[in-house]
Amino acid sequence: MVEAYSMQVFLFQFLLASFVLLSSVGYSIAGITSAFVRTEWPSVDIPLDHEAFAVPKGYNAPQQVHITQGDYDGKAVIISWVTVDEPGPSEVTYGLSKDKYDKKAEGKFTNYTFYGYNSGYIHHCLIDSLEHETKYYYKIGMKNSAREFWFQTPPKIGPDAPYTFGIIGDLGQTFNSLSTLDHYMQSGGQAVLFVGDLSYADRYEHENGIRWDSWGRFIEKSAAYQPWLWSAGNHEIEYMPHVGEVTPFKSYLHRYATPYMASKSISPLWYSVRRASTHIIVLSSYSPFVKYTPQWHWLKDELLQVDREKTPWLIVLMHAPIYNSNMAHYMEGEGMRSVFESWFVHYKVDLVFAGHVHAYERSYRISNINYNITSGDRYPIPDKSAPVYITVGDGGNQEGLAGRFTNPQPDYSAFREASYGHSTLEIKNRTHAFYRWNRNDDGNQVATDTVIFYNQYWASNLQRRRLKKNHCTASRIATF
Ligand SMILES: *[C@@H]1O[C@H](CO)[C@@H](O)[C@H](O)[C@H]1NC(C)=O
Ligand SMILES: *[C@@H]1O[C@H](CO)[C@@H](O)[C@H](O)[C@H]1NC(C)=O
Ligand SMILES: *[C@@H]1O[C@H](CO)[C@@H](O)[C@H](O)[C@H]1NC(C)=O
Ligand SMILES: [Fe+2]
Repeated sequence: MVEAYSMQVFLFQFLLASFVLLSSVGYSIAGITSAFVRTEWPSVDIPLDHEAFAVPKGYNAPQQVHITQGDYDGKAVIISWVTVDEPGPSEVTYGLSKDKYDKKAEGKFTNYTFYGYNSGYIHHCLIDSLEHETKYYYKIGMKNSAREFWFQTPPKIGPDAPYTFGIIGDLGQTFNSLSTLDHYMQSGGQAVLFVGDLSYADRYEHENGIRWDSWGRFIEKSAAYQPWLWSAGNHEIEYMPHVGEVTPFKSYLHRYATPYMASKSISPLWYSVRRASTHIIVLSSYSPFVKYTPQWHWLKDELLQVDREKTPWLIVLMHAPIYNSNMAHYMEGEGMRSVFESWFVHYKVDLVFAGHVHAYERSYRISNINYNITSGDRYPIPDKSAPVYITVGDGGNQEGLAGRFTNPQPDYSAFREASYGHSTLEIKNRTHAFYRWNRNDDGNQVATDTVIFYNQYWASNLQRRRLKKNHCTASRIATF
């Protein structure tokens, strides 16, 4: 098995190299369907008394600490946490060293009920006017139960600002989820792009709130120290009329903040931020997005704000994938494709990350924008201006893997495998980003799908390359 697998990776790399060389003609090679089958953990949630969910000691100690970007350009952070005994202060003290918390910010708390569950006090506190590329220490909570953490702000917005993102989706709280989280934490990622479906607490009715709480404690070891940028999935909707819960996204919106107002959005469910050399647009698959809706108007305007001279890397996050050749959730992204795909091509989006399907898949640069309901082409075709679509719904939740792919593999699909894992995107400069999907290979992290992405703005326009010769020395163009 191991033997065969290494052979496959070798073969794949060889094919990949040939593909890069032959690139501009379109599909030069057939896609790969990896036959790797893994055996690690069962698809059941970790018991609540496991140390992965440990409650911090002390009266009213802050728990479920997590941070996210708090503004458009990365000079602010929203710090969130939960207290259970009493509200306590919503205050954060912070500073440049551990024993010098000389700055202070005041936040707010909220609480909610869900089918008999009363939430703790959920605090959100914005700290702003931070310096770029600086390590900040922060402290929250009361007296003896106060807790201390730190985070690093990103570099100033700029075309060559390097940055490494992790991409995680559909995480849940099983031992597979824990394996994904641990591997991510070893991968050098500086922030997480989370593509929806967080806790899978909606699989519970009575224990719903308890499983949101355990998930908050589960991710704290990463999310308290680096921002996780949230997008909402179907498991966040929690529309459960049979138990009288009919407010969509109730738990999610109380618990996970986003800086949506900084990008003039009217909803925390869709927004955008800029970070280092990236412009990241977060869409909501489960909010209205057709023509004339608020999300449609917002995206139309936001795409005009993108300045590839400052942020060359244009990345879109959503939950339901637009190009997916797995039998699970087949064509559920089709509505969004018909509305937004032509914009993605027009604006030369680099990468679209999605989750939802519990497997991994990467497309070639393809589009289907000539299709219409009267006549015309009805099949995706190679398109150098199109994004690469990547599905990373393989975080490890209790629903297990989606192992049935359509057969044969469609031409647009470059690589697909039903295993757990996460991705890392290591942006080097305005032209190059190193990408890999890291499979949780029976306890080990194995970089399985490795690709160099060339920027859609800086590396695909020959004229621009000649004009800015000093910046662009890349010797070949690929369609990735
Ligand atoms: C929120 O907390 C306050 C103070 O403990 C309590 O009186 C109120 O009922 C709670 N509200 C909800 C919606 O749980
Ligand atoms: C539909 O597609 C065909 C072929 O691309 C094109 O000629 C035609 O103009 C399109 N129809 C409309 C109404 O856009
Ligand atoms: C961008 O990064 C790539 C990969 O590290 C490197 O080969 C290339 O020379 C860099 N380009 C510039 C302009 O620094
Ligand atoms: Fe989902």
